[in-house]
Amino acid sequence: MNRRKFLGYTAIGLGAGIGGLTLWNPFKEGRSVSAQAITNNNFVPDVEIALTAQPGEVSIFSGKLTQVQRYTARVLKGPSSVVQTLENTYLGPIFRLKTGQNVRVRFTNQIDQETIVHWHGLHVPEQADGHPRYVIDKGETYVYEFTVANRAGTYWFHPHPHGRTGPQVYSGLAGLFIVQDDEEQAANLPTGAYDIPLIIQDRTFDANNQLVYLTGGMMQRMNGFLGNRILVNGQPDPVIKVASNVYRLRLLNGSNSRIYKIAWSDGRPLTIIGTDGGLLEKPLNRPYVMLGPAERIELWADFSNYTPNSSVKLVSLPFDGAGGMGMMGGMMGRRRGGQSLTNGSGFDLARFDIVKKETPALTLPKVLSKIEPVDIRAAVNANNPRTFTFAMGMGSATINGRTFEMTRVASDEVVKLNTSEVWRLVNGGGGGMGMMGGMMQMPHPVHVHGLQFRVLERTPGAGWQSMKDGFVDEGWKDTVLLMPGMQAKILLRFVDFGGLYLYHCHNLEHEDMGMMRNYLVEA
Ligand code: C2O
Ligand code: CU
Repeated sequence: MNRRKFLGYTAIGLGAGIGGLTLWNPFKEGRSVSAQAITNNNFVPDVEIALTAQPGEVSIFSGKLTQVQRYTARVLKGPSSVVQTLENTYLGPIFRLKTGQNVRVRFTNQIDQETIVHWHGLHVPEQADGHPRYVIDKGETYVYEFTVANRAGTYWFHPHPHGRTGPQVYSGLAGLFIVQDDEEQAANLPTGAYDIPLIIQDRTFDANNQLVYLTGGMMQRMNGFLGNRILVNGQPDPVIKVASNVYRLRLLNGSNSRIYKIAWSDGRPLTIIGTDGGLLEKPLNRPYVMLGPAERIELWADFSNYTPNSSVKLVSLPFDGAGGMGMMGGMMGRRRGGQSLTNGSGFDLARFDIVKKETPALTLPKVLSKIEPVDIRAAVNANNPRTFTFAMGMGSATINGRTFEMTRVASDEVVKLNTSEVWRLVNGGGGGMGMMGGMMQMPHPVHVHGLQFRVLERTPGAGWQSMKDGFVDEGWKDTVLLMPGMQAKILLRFVDFGGLYLYHCHNLEHEDMGMMRNYLVEA
């Protein structure tokens, strides 16, 4: 993006942030009190959306409807195409916005718990980031105002109340936030019916078709929730009818803790065009891709060589190293009706039936977007990276030995606005030796709020041989999957907005246990 244009947009964003600040005290312990009133007279939205979290019921299996919680949205200002409601699913809606647009979202909580919405991957002022200190009660409304500063890509939104993100996402609350821009349009990628989002989640249902969350106590919680049914876009065993044409598939791992090793069932390579923070510079071929919780991957899917009436599947291949209570979870799961599908099991995700003959008009672009080369010299601490170690103990989940505190930062969690830094993220495993120590070797998908970063390097970790070709570190990222023993160095830049943001493990059970901390961007 043109730098001058970018600064122009974010100046508007900052104005909105400052306007909001005067109206309530964001550091008041607990939550904001006058959430209804947070609007800024100078902010002129291009798009205004009313978003509500509320209970609902959907048909997932034949027989009884499933009780869920879901987001619904209504466009108050702007073209109706900015909100796409998905039929027959608890998921969605999908927001479709353009870089540079001013967005106001009036979020109303109609569920029985405190909640707040986080725009995962978006570069927004802290008041618009959905930090848990901004939770609102049932009946209250929180007003978000921000300028879409991100490049084109597949972002998403979900609840972020402290201690309850796992169950709330699990109950159905999640939607996509798709950003479009001119650069993407110039790449000439498939659109409309040829642009298919695939949100992958695992769930467990009881005999009455109702969702079952964790039942197994602390050990299951430490492992993270693993469901025994795989859903795509909220549906089990999905069949997607396609033509013998080219498609853009946007995959989001919207699961609480499950990791997927995505591949085509017929062994042809995946053609990857995008990651968390949008399009890659150029397409890449990989035999498979690892997708940790919250990560996105975009594929160019070419069905033109398939004959009508044939089909091909996206699958998740088995892999090693997810450890935890994998083995035991399986053993106990069968006995207790719990986590019988371990993290690392193989299964089908979705079947594509080629039902119609078409001749593709589009060809895979050689260049997709411009990505600035990584310049580690720009970092103020290139020779001495800030280190954060994620570790499990018996009943604890910590970062550098600490758990979440609502409004506090430690001295090593303060960065300066307008600087770049290298962070070394370490999966430090868990305490203890032998079986217990081994069980605490768990993957940690690490997410940083408020920005997109670059992955500079990663070291091998558990299960490396079974997944080494599946890490796509070439583009912009907001979540990096760290297998047990793995370390990654990332390059971050803190621009436009000061304030308190989060970094945490996106295994939602680990997050809820406190494997989450604030970092402060000091102006
Ligand atoms: Cu998608 Cu703090 O999370
Ligand atoms: Cu974790």
